[in-house]
Amino acid sequence: MPQTWLVTGCSSGFGELFVRQLCELGDNVIATGRNAKTKLAHLKSTGAMIVDLDVSSPASEIEAKISEVWDLYPGGIDVVVNNAGYILSGAIEELVPQELEDIMRTNFHGPMNITRSLLPRLRAKGSGTLLYISSQAGWHADPGASGYCASKFALEGAVECLSHELAIFAPGIKVLIVEPGYFRTRAFGNINHVPPRVADYAAFNAAVRDVEAGIVGNEPGDATKGVSIMINLVKGTGVAEGKEIPLRVPLGTDGWSRIKAKCENMIKICDDWEQVAKSTDIVQQ
Ligand SMILES: NC(=O)c1ccc[n+]([C@@H]2O[C@H](COP(=O)([O-])OP(=O)(O)OC[C@H]3O[C@@H](n4cnc5c(N)ncnc54)[C@H](OP(=O)(O)O)[C@@H]3O)[C@@H](O)[C@H]2O)c1
Repeated sequence: MPQTWLVTGCSSGFGELFVRQLCELGDNVIATGRNAKTKLAHLKSTGAMIVDLDVSSPASEIEAKISEVWDLYPGGIDVVVNNAGYILSGAIEELVPQELEDIMRTNFHGPMNITRSLLPRLRAKGSGTLLYISSQAGWHADPGASGYCASKFALEGAVECLSHELAIFAPGIKVLIVEPGYFRTRAFGNINHVPPRVADYAAFNAAVRDVEAGIVGNEPGDATKGVSIMINLVKGTGVAEGKEIPLRVPLGTDGWSRIKAKCENMIKICDDWEQVAKSTDIVQQ
């Protein structure tokens, strides 16, 4: 039985690869993106339905769009890939509120609004998968990356809550967060940089831009392999065959290493500070 997938941010990178791989597998694909007519024209030959969707649109517009596409295929949508997103680079002192609000609207509120529009429909049919493309930056923070990290940390927190809520209200709906390290897509070549605002940060910004430029073309992750594994995780095929799939799956050696190191460090902090942490409890009489 073919599944019906809705994928956001399909003009390039992971999103485009999802469309191509899923169409090859014979699934139904609703490929969405901004200015879809032009930016997704290269995907027409895949057979996917091409739909305009800017995930930063107001919730009412997202609801209207979901309602419009839900019945494109019999049985409604089975899997949603919350993929659209971008990187913002800039130190907190140089960021202005609008820049933080913009990245939250795309990387966090977009997936949340899509989720809220789909949930009543998915709950009614009792099944479905909500996949969120987070990042190693949903765990690990680098200087200059606060906007991006904040959006992905927020996404991970909300989706973890969602997974517990659905275990109560709709256990047939699966929730999955994937945390890629650096993968070779357009992402690092397409970073949004804050304009220079604080002179003291000029040298820092130059160093950050050097690091970013050094990543472009040297990302260790193969996006084609990454997408193929994400599809396996949703379908329970290939590497996922017969396995219980956890809420979070890291992908790529670099991201995996950073997440593991952070977890080990946190366990050490919990051990080292155990007595202090427990010393604040109210002593029961
Ligand atoms: N590549 C990596 O190393 C990496 C690592 C961890 C996580 N990720 C995550 O993976 C996801 C996909 O990124 P990618 O690596 O495939 O980069 P990409 O090639 O730059 O793709 C990003 C996609 O998101 C779309 N997008 C951005 N803002 C949007 C909006 N408001 N509404 C709809 N679409 C929007 C872009 O469309 P436009 O053409 O219209 O801009 C593009 O199609 C992102 O969430 C990113 O944070 C990537």
